[in-house]
Amino acid sequence: MDVGIIVPAAGSGQRLGGAVPKQYRLLAGTPVLVRVIRMLRAAFEDAAMVVAVDRSWQDHAEQLLAEYKGSLVVTEGGSTRQESVFRALQHPILAEAEIIVIHDAVRPFASVGLTHRVVEAARQYGAAVPVIPPADTVKLLDANGTIETTLPRGRVRLVQTPQAFRRSILLEAHQEAAEDRFEATDDASIVEYAGYPVVTVEGEMRNIKITTPLDWCLAEQIVQVGCT
Ligand code: CTP
Ligand code: MG
Repeated sequence: MDVGIIVPAAGSGQRLGGAVPKQYRLLAGTPVLVRVIRMLRAAFEDAAMVVAVDRSWQDHAEQLLAEYKGSLVVTEGGSTRQESVFRALQHPILAEAEIIVIHDAVRPFASVGLTHRVVEAARQYGAAVPVIPPADTVKLLDANGTIETTLPRGRVRLVQTPQAFRRSILLEAHQEAAEDRFEATDDASIVEYAGYPVVTVEGEMRNIKITTPLDWCLAEQIVQVGCT
């Protein structure tokens, strides 16, 4: 299988709060992380997977994902998402992969179809991410919070995961970003920084990133009611 998968899952979920980091919380009885891994496993049956976790949750994560042992490894993440991904990317289990898929551990509603579309685009163009149009108008503020400019809404998009990249591009970009101490919140930004074009595919509205208590409430609704 020429697809390898990285799931950054080493965050502590400060904005959602609670005793258990959100990726381990039960959503209608099933941990969010398990939902994510099931979807990715359904998308790519034989792909090698690296799940980056906080050291204190490593045993727990390994137990949750025991059935995938063999093609899935749980590794120690870093203090930022970027560091977690960069560490995972250097794991030998991914060395043979041509295409790397990166998917947040807290986006349980991305579809198999979306994951396939992103990978196909990455095969063709080197780097691809799913995007959706924002519902609101987006402003750029100055340091005082005064509006500097209004971005043209027709060209503004919100970026999701799964994101997919040729492994060679992703590795080079992460190395360059680490050397320059360039910090970013997603992998597309790092690849852009390295000068590669990143194409977009149509994302999914229900592919929310569980970030705040409102998102958790919405996630429960999506699981129980569907919310299509
Ligand atoms: N992540 C990671 N390593 C970190 C920080 C984040 O692997 N050091 C992962 C999270 O576990 C999550 C994804 O990156 O799957 C997206 O991050 P985010 O939604 O910001 O999660 P948290 O950082 O856990 O939440 P918060 O920022 O509210 O603390
Ligand atoms: Mg975070």
